[in-house]
Amino acid sequence: MKHPVSTEISDGILSVTIDNPPVNALSAAVRAGLMAAREQAVAARQVRAVVLAAAGRTFVAGADIREFNAPPSPPLLPELVAAIEETGKPWVALLHGTVLGGGLELALGCHARLARPGTALGLPEVRLGLIPGAGGTVRLPRLIGALPALEMITGGRPVNAEQAQETGLIDAITTGDPMAEARARALALAGAAPPKGLIARAAPEIDDAGVWDKALARVAAKARGQIAPVEAAAAVADALRLPAGAALAAERQRFMALKDSPQSAALRHVFFAERAAGKMPELADVRPRPLQRIGIVGGGTMGAGIAAACLMAGLPVTMVERDGALARRGAKNLRTLLDGSLGRGVIDRSAHDRALAGFAAGDDLTALAPSDLVIEAIVEDMEEKAALLSRLEAVVGPDTVLASNTSYLDIDQMSDGLADPGRVIGLHFFSPAHVMKLLELVITARARDDVVATGRALGRLLGKIVVPARVGHGFIGNRIMSAYRRACEAMLQDGALPAEIDAAMRDYGYAMGMFEMQDMAGLDIAWAMRRAQAAGSAGQETPERYVDIADRLCEAGRFGRKSGAGWYRYDDGHAVPDPEVSAIITASSARAGITRRRIGAEEIMERCLGAMIEAGRAVLAEGIARSAADIDVVMVNGFGFPRWRGGPFHAAGISDG
Ligand code: 3HC
Repeated sequence: MKHPVSTEISDGILSVTIDNPPVNALSAAVRAGLMAAREQAVAARQVRAVVLAAAGRTFVAGADIREFNAPPSPPLLPELVAAIEETGKPWVALLHGTVLGGGLELALGCHARLARPGTALGLPEVRLGLIPGAGGTVRLPRLIGALPALEMITGGRPVNAEQAQETGLIDAITTGDPMAEARARALALAGAAPPKGLIARAAPEIDDAGVWDKALARVAAKARGQIAPVEAAAAVADALRLPAGAALAAERQRFMALKDSPQSAALRHVFFAERAAGKMPELADVRPRPLQRIGIVGGGTMGAGIAAACLMAGLPVTMVERDGALARRGAKNLRTLLDGSLGRGVIDRSAHDRALAGFAAGDDLTALAPSDLVIEAIVEDMEEKAALLSRLEAVVGPDTVLASNTSYLDIDQMSDGLADPGRVIGLHFFSPAHVMKLLELVITARARDDVVATGRALGRLLGKIVVPARVGHGFIGNRIMSAYRRACEAMLQDGALPAEIDAAMRDYGYAMGMFEMQDMAGLDIAWAMRRAQAAGSAGQETPERYVDIADRLCEAGRFGRKSGAGWYRYDDGHAVPDPEVSAIITASSARAGITRRRIGAEEIMERCLGAMIEAGRAVLAEGIARSAADIDVVMVNGFGFPRWRGGPFHAAGISDG
């Protein structure tokens, strides 16, 4: 096998190239190769300087996460970085792609850093429940200052090359031949005196203790039960007050402890599960159809969100609504979403304007004729959706894929009346569709492989985490969500109050509890659906224990935040427990003949998770989801399950076969 690190000496420069696809992770073999290169640089008298670069799509994207389940084998990364720093000859890192984690730490051990345009640099270890473990918390503040380093290390978000140049993280962005520029820089540094590494610099002073303390407090408040960001902040604080050697040792100790923590194991599980989710071996040889123009029927929240997602990914969209006024409303909804993305810095002005230029809205279905894929996002009603699919089939070409964004309905039944039901799939987006990463790709019973592959290709183009699902009421996520919603409502009837359940879920790590979330989303749509089910048109069996509390709230006009009251009352936008709701709940308990009792936070979460696992097992048994890991991915990315707990199955200690 080819060695992942190669070297070449020419004109006084040792070129070191890492070639370890796909992302040049720092495996044991790479570390050994780099250590050998360092020895070569020391020993070869003709070598005056070193240029370190990587082949392929990126510089080093981090330590090799796959090695984290076993004890590390030498040479260890911190030793390697220190050895490079102390070579006695300058190293210049030539960066491109995503320079992350141990990759950035390696670059920080070099004496200068050049980046090609478009490079992203970051220390994302906290996202894996870790902190930088190879000197990042000690060297980065010495290079860019305490506060910017604290933000990068505790937030985990990468910066772009321009931002990196502004803070001094890199010395320059290359403008011409990157290798020639790196070599010139290396020779310029090769003077009489050996170059000094960052570790030799004094730690930065904190200019304003008040600002610093506030920044630390913000990290703690945002962590919501996660250990890594708090540990990361403590490591940076160590780096400012301890001698460098002691700070490095303390960092390593924290890193090793976190590496073995359940939180990091959970986050690593989700990392790999997300990447496994979109892998569909059965499609390996199937070519997706071209995707150049997307049609969307419906301009409400979902339709506009899906349109925004497509447009932001560079795909032109035609939106069709029932009449001109609704089309104008759809266009307005879309514009609001794009403006919001611009305001949040997700897209820049030119991308915003390009997106708008690629958009058309109207009330004529025939405008969808040239579409490669049409997504229906109209009301959740079987008859209307089935009729729409038939009308679409008459309008579009024979190769156009038709997709339903239904959240619950049976798409096989929906496509029964079509001449070619094999062209239909489900693309179940989550609201807001231009923000949420999850996409359930619903593979209908008759869907052809190239149709499924095209749906998956669209998901990937939009940057979504695509999880395949089969047809079944609520597919994966909503089916499980309905089950734990029912469990929560049963607990209300048994003795808990909404605020107690919400607090238990927040303490567990949810950003929001079940009832706060329902108030935010609105209670009326689910109510309408329950009534439709009761009328027998939505095709779902009635649960064994029906709790009527949500119905009573809706009958009282309490539809959630939008009506000023739901599970809570809203005073100045703040959720306040409402005695009226308590009265409705207690009355429901009495009607059901239940003597109310106190239900503690532990029992609340046990019942909640129990309901998720039970429903999840059913979803697996029925073949709707492929794996427990896929279910974890869905619950983490679509339903607010705390990522650092790894999803319900991981949290329950259940893994796939
Ligand atoms: N170790 C091992 N494998 C890795 C890896 C890593 N650090 N990063 C990515 N991979 C693998 C993925 O599992 C995937 O494998 P697969 O093809 O078998 O599924 C493959 O590389 C490609 O990854 P993506 O599908 O994610 O490719 P993208 O192009 O979408 O993204 C990326 C590339 C931005 C580099 C993304 O993979 C990523 O964010 N990786 C993790 C980066 C990271 O967290 N680095 C820090 C690691 S911890 C560390 O360095 C500790 C140190 O401080 C001591």
